[in-house]
Amino acid sequence: MTARQWSRPSAVLCGLGTYLPPRIVTNDELSLELDTTDEWIRNRTGIRRRHVIEPGSATSTLAIEAGRRALKSSRHDRADAVVVATTTPDRPCPATAPEVAAQLGLPGVPAFDIGAVCAGFVYALAIGAGLISSGIAERVLVIGADTFSTILNPKDRTTRAIFGDGAGAVVLRPGEAGEPGALGPFDLGTDGDLADLITVPAGGSRQRAEGTTAPPADHYFTMQGKSVFQQAVLRMTESVQRVLAQTGWSVDDIDRFVGHQANARILTALAERLELPRERIVSNIDRVGNTAAASIPLALADGGLRPGHRVLLTSFGGGLAWGSTVLRWPEVTPA
Ligand code: UT7
Repeated sequence: MTARQWSRPSAVLCGLGTYLPPRIVTNDELSLELDTTDEWIRNRTGIRRRHVIEPGSATSTLAIEAGRRALKSSRHDRADAVVVATTTPDRPCPATAPEVAAQLGLPGVPAFDIGAVCAGFVYALAIGAGLISSGIAERVLVIGADTFSTILNPKDRTTRAIFGDGAGAVVLRPGEAGEPGALGPFDLGTDGDLADLITVPAGGSRQRAEGTTAPPADHYFTMQGKSVFQQAVLRMTESVQRVLAQTGWSVDDIDRFVGHQANARILTALAERLELPRERIVSNIDRVGNTAAASIPLALADGGLRPGHRVLLTSFGGGLAWGSTVLRWPEVTPA
């Protein structure tokens, strides 16, 4: 057993990269196809536009570019494990991560997907931190990538108004618990009794085992928006309080609050409940919409973070699943 294994290194964030597909869809463009308006979408969600992939691209296209940029930002072109958080893998089987690793010139490394829907990135960070503290990997590339445009019902104005495509990635290395960039503690949780609030009903083993042909609408993403909104505010508030208690920080200690960008009104409600000044809340939802597993790293890159800032990350999504963690922002330039 080496000294490094005995002392259980912390995982330290040392690189950040993001990628958005070039095509932008404005609210006005959506209103040409759907019974909606720019005004409704802006007032109810804070979103003005979102990016979407075009034919020929897939989740891996975005994940590879974000991963490449994160490695560049870390000034080290190697990682020895790749974790991809996604709900929209290129194919149901195999996982997307091995192809991403191969395309990034990382042959032979452990690479796998994890599914925690919009909470996926924080879950993937926790797994990356575990790989490092257990001594299994030295440098881990953690990617959140989703292309919800591929699973939305074209006729569903509610989901099409909020979701966008994108990817973000970070590189983790071993280090000391107190140093800038060190992650943790983590608060993670789920409530499977409420799994039906956010679901793609068809296409999985349940439907196949029953031998039924699912109606086409069941292959699309569905969300019970109002209940999900309430759960998002409740679960993220509780998770933030738990992670603060573990960390020993008070709400006043948070310099930047990076919450899942699902709806600007959810971020406002969180700020009110936690009594957090609005200017500490990072929000880029007006430009990117809700990018699911990519939401947190995209917000990190857009958040105007400065070295030394105390940053709290919190996320929430289908499962239901939620997760929070903290770090002091390191000297990292997003790529
Ligand atoms: O990322 C994972 C977690 N996801 C979330 O956290 C999302 C949480 N939920 C939300 O952000 C909001 O619930 C939505 C943005 C999805 C919906 O906003 P809402 O204010 O909760 O609207 P609603 O579902 O209560 O609908 C109010 C009205 C309805 O019309 P009626 O029945 O009152 O006549 C909807 O049909 O607004 C209508 N509506 C729309 N109208 C114009 C719903 N979507 C639209 C739309 N344009 N795009």
